[in-house]
Amino acid sequence: MTTMATPQTWSPEVFTDAVGDAVWAPSIHNCQPWRFRHTGDGVDVLLDEHRVLAACDRYGRMARMSCGAAAYNLRLALAMAGLPAQYRFGAGRTLLHLWPDRPRRPAPLESRLYQQIHHRHTNRGPFADTAVDTAASHRLSEAARREGGWLDFVTDDAPLDVVAGLVRAADAQLRADPAYTAELRAWSIAADDRVEGVGPAAAGAAPHPGELLTRRDFGGPVLEMTRDPARRPAVAVLGVLGDGFDDAVRAGMALQRVLLTAADLGLTTALYSQPTEVPALRERLRRTVDRLHDPQLVLRFGYAPRTCYTNRRPIADVIEP
Ligand SMILES: Cc1cc2nc3c(=O)[nH]c(=O)nc-3n(C[C@H](O)[C@H](O)[C@H](O)COP(=O)(O)O)c2cc1C
Repeated sequence: MTTMATPQTWSPEVFTDAVGDAVWAPSIHNCQPWRFRHTGDGVDVLLDEHRVLAACDRYGRMARMSCGAAAYNLRLALAMAGLPAQYRFGAGRTLLHLWPDRPRRPAPLESRLYQQIHHRHTNRGPFADTAVDTAASHRLSEAARREGGWLDFVTDDAPLDVVAGLVRAADAQLRADPAYTAELRAWSIAADDRVEGVGPAAAGAAPHPGELLTRRDFGGPVLEMTRDPARRPAVAVLGVLGDGFDDAVRAGMALQRVLLTAADLGLTTALYSQPTEVPALRERLRRTVDRLHDPQLVLRFGYAPRTCYTNRRPIADVIEP
């Protein structure tokens, strides 16, 4: 009698541990709009539609990006368990379905990126005046490319001024909308021990009119910072080859691979999505980098002392029965 080999899949323990890594992804306002489901033959990454930010993310693009970033962590964690994932995009609130590929040892690069999951964080403090070398920026662009994205560094003064102007204009335009500011206040939490939102330690100081790229105002204190010390900031624009629902998830996976690569290079990162939240300014950003598809995010890389981490909700809250 011949016995059929049972297809190997992830155990519930491996799944739960991997979700524990996935949730350390970045998410817009730290809203953590993800859920995960073990389907028996694989794993689904789902959008938690109740957590899509109505004012700044009406169509859920940034929520999908956030889920894509979590999915990239999940893929790394599953690969570390010796059973890497293949994936396909889903439908409705199921954004991705993952199923096991052939068992293998994790690649050295996967191990390195995996180790950065719990070290990476968004840094809203001042960056040092230390240039990011071109070898590092090439590695970052390559990281985006490996996940189907593009990451264009804006190195010349004139386009850099344009990008800075677009971030500033977008931030001002967004702040003029009472629904946007109310939503931002709701996610700018007063205490650092909350499990979601951005607390005082992670928020950094209030944005200063003299800074190069206007940071989103999470309610930090007003400080006497008159100018940004970095003379040659490393600013880049991230995108993918499309602007549909799946493209946003793909952009999130590309984003997370870029962020973990940056952490692996000893770099810190700041994120600026404001110009992608105002359609006319997003179009101008697209023309500035001369790409066919709308950009997904502006990033800044550099060197800075580690600031504070944000927290995450308990794993039980994000696992679907
Ligand atoms: C799609 C997306 C857009 C974001 N936009 C901004 C932004 O405009 N300004 C900002 O300070 N942080 C931004 N962030 C970073 C989140 O606020 C941050 O990931 C979250 O608070 C969790 O903190 P952590 O990244 O330190 O883990 C963005 C993150 C994502 C995924």
